[in-house]
Amino acid sequence: MAVERVLSGMRPTGNLHLGHYNGVLKNWLRLQHEHECFFFVADWHALTTHYDTPEIIEESVWEMVIDWLAAGVDPSSATVFIQSKVPEHAELNTLLSMITPLSWLERVPTYKDQQEKLSGKDLATYGFLGYPLLQSADILMYKATQVPVGEDQIPHIELTREIARRFNHIYGKEAGFEDKAKEAIKKLGKKRAKLYEEMRNSHQESGDDEALESARAMIEEQQNLSMGDKERLLGYLEGGGKIILLEPEYKLTPASKMPGLDGQKMSKSYNNTISLRESPDDVTKKIRTMPTDPARVRRTDPGDPVNCPVWQLHEIYSDDSVQDWVQTGCKSGGIGCIECKQPVIDGVLKELKPMQERAVQYTEDPSLVKNIVAEGNEKARKVARETMRDVRDAMGLGYS
Ligand code: TRP
Ligand code: SF4
Repeated sequence: MAVERVLSGMRPTGNLHLGHYNGVLKNWLRLQHEHECFFFVADWHALTTHYDTPEIIEESVWEMVIDWLAAGVDPSSATVFIQSKVPEHAELNTLLSMITPLSWLERVPTYKDQQEKLSGKDLATYGFLGYPLLQSADILMYKATQVPVGEDQIPHIELTREIARRFNHIYGKEAGFEDKAKEAIKKLGKKRAKLYEEMRNSHQESGDDEALESARAMIEEQQNLSMGDKERLLGYLEGGGKIILLEPEYKLTPASKMPGLDGQKMSKSYNNTISLRESPDDVTKKIRTMPTDPARVRRTDPGDPVNCPVWQLHEIYSDDSVQDWVQTGCKSGGIGCIECKQPVIDGVLKELKPMQERAVQYTEDPSLVKNIVAEGNEKARKVARETMRDVRDAMGLGYS
């Protein structure tokens, strides 16, 4: 299989909590060992909605990177960087804006949804309308094949795919493309050339996606082909011109099943979170004061875990025997709620402990974090510079 490149970003708008950890971050941790990963702080995206509170962004950028590192993001296998420190994103955003129909942006569902949801803020800005295009620039810059995102972000990835297609369609044409593609096929050698033609036909005549995938993989593996020839062969497979920008796939982040302190989904806007660096005392306090089944007025009143948010946490943090103990004790009135909450407190503290220990070195010495990010910025810029060279050339801006 061709090498996958994963890219994902997060807006720095506050502390990360257990919901982020159990949804997004655990997913990142897995991916960083399987693929080449780029994880970045989307600070410009944060400004689209928080333009009037820049101080929150500034602080959250570093706190968020510390949370990532504490959770186990490993800078020796993933590239961690900050969007605004790779100004090529802004250049690509500008260039892509030239070919982006206004209607494509206006019909992205988050545009109207968020304006309604955040009605206290004036989001009728150019920057906010352009939010998904900036995201497309983030993704296309790295020729990412996979973008792990939550469900709400799928339209943004679809927009990205459409923009890549439009870009390749407009700028992927070069004089004598067919001839050049045919020359490139010869370079594959007889056997592979035949296979390529067969798979190309199969895809173009009957829309065989598997043939397309295998042909792509075969091309990616060729060591003796120039980048230009690879792009021609990839483009020729689908009938069009050169593929300059790659259409990404989205990879749905497994939904975080993390319930908050009130039984609703854990989310900052519900004020029901436990943050990754919450002190043990505060964790204890927060769980001790959680609401329970209202039927249990006195300690001896029987209750039912289905009516209790604490039970939802037991489902995550407790093993079968503890869960049995809760079920029996709650329904018979045999255990008290404070008693019942203790294993949950222990479970949360146990999950947070290694993260909080890892965070200490970074909070004590912020230069560690700055160095990791500086290195990541440089790595990201190297890729970004290459993409921009191709994009500028394609758009007739290759002169100097
Ligand atoms: N819009 C994303 C979010 O709110 C953040 C983001 C910005 C992003 N650029 C991206 C995610 C590129 C993935 C890829 O979650
Ligand atoms: Fe909830 Fe446990 Fe109290 Fe039952 S005993 S109401 S499950 S906290």
